Amino acid sequence: MSHKGILALETSCDETSIAYCEDFKVIHQVTSSQIKIHRPYRGVVPELASRQHLNNLPVLMKKIKSLISIKNCKKIAVTTGPGLAPALLVGLSYSKGLALNYNLPLIPVNHIRAHLYSPFIGRKEIPYPFLGLVVSGSHTSLYLVEEKKEKLLAKTRDDAIGEAFDKVARLFGLPYPGGPEIDKLFPKGDFKKFQLPSPKMSDKSLDFSFSGIKSHISRMVHNGFKIMDEKGLTQNSLDLLSSFQYKLVEILMDRLKYFQKKLKIKNISLSGGVAANKYLRKRAEEWAKEEGLNLFLPDRKFITDNAGMVGYLAFLKKLKPEIIEKIDIDPNWEF
Ligand code: KG4
Ligand code: ZN
Repeated sequence: MSHKGILALETSCDETSIAYCEDFKVIHQVTSSQIKIHRPYRGVVPELASRQHLNNLPVLMKKIKSLISIKNCKKIAVTTGPGLAPALLVGLSYSKGLALNYNLPLIPVNHIRAHLYSPFIGRKEIPYPFLGLVVSGSHTSLYLVEEKKEKLLAKTRDDAIGEAFDKVARLFGLPYPGGPEIDKLFPKGDFKKFQLPSPKMSDKSLDFSFSGIKSHISRMVHNGFKIMDEKGLTQNSLDLLSSFQYKLVEILMDRLKYFQKKLKIKNISLSGGVAANKYLRKRAEEWAKEEGLNLFLPDRKFITDNAGMVGYLAFLKKLKPEIIEKIDIDPNWEF
């Protein structure tokens, strides 16, 4: 049996994932989420994450080995940044071991760039140019993507949008990760009830900023806002959480609309964990329909962190292997 594919590994945060990709397709993907481990700490604990990756990788590798033969793969691709340093180190060390053992070339992959192309997994042709919005727990960046280059149009100046979701959810005693929890509660609140402040950049930059809104809510909570009563979250809390999600989505939509008009781009993509948000998807879908735009969203299994997107990017962009001894992690890698 001979494979022509890429074995891909992802350990940048709290998901351990291994995939086998062939041509433009993800043939197999096995992922182990650590959410339950980090939940008691209400956020990702880097050392715990790295220990979990260490435990999970051999288990996932056994599963993949029951499906394909590693020695017949052509290349290995691994996320080397951005992400949590101890978590990235485990994935890279493991991949170096595999590469040396099976004598395979090793390709370092940028995690955000992998998210950016994840809506197109399975496709050979990418609808260039497209506006790509990456919204995750660590990034909020909007790119103009052309065949030969990706241009950063706007990025967050402070918190990532997923981080803002998680921090506000924590104020209300909701479990980690907070994004899906706020998403679920959204229909229960009146999203017009609270007017939250709009971020204003003194230099009129079009960058994103979410920490002001988060601090505003934090001040409300510390100044006596009643979060709970005997029945659980108060109606006021549900209204505030809905108003918060509404505001974040407004900010994203506002920026997307601005750049779409300015650059006259017909193809729009959303990716990263927050792209799972039902209200954001609804708003983006409605807008695309009204304006006759094409909206691309990742398949459910490629929204939150996954190795499929890592292998796909390596194949799509024909990323080059590097000298194994020289490959290092880059926790702050901007591309
Ligand atoms: O892409 P991802 O899995 O990891 C990073 O690269 O950061 O994104 C995780 C983030 C978390 O902040 C989580 O709260 C958020 O995505 N998230 C959501 C939803 N599902 C995940 N945020 C809002 N609504 C959701 N449905
Ligand atoms: Zn991610």
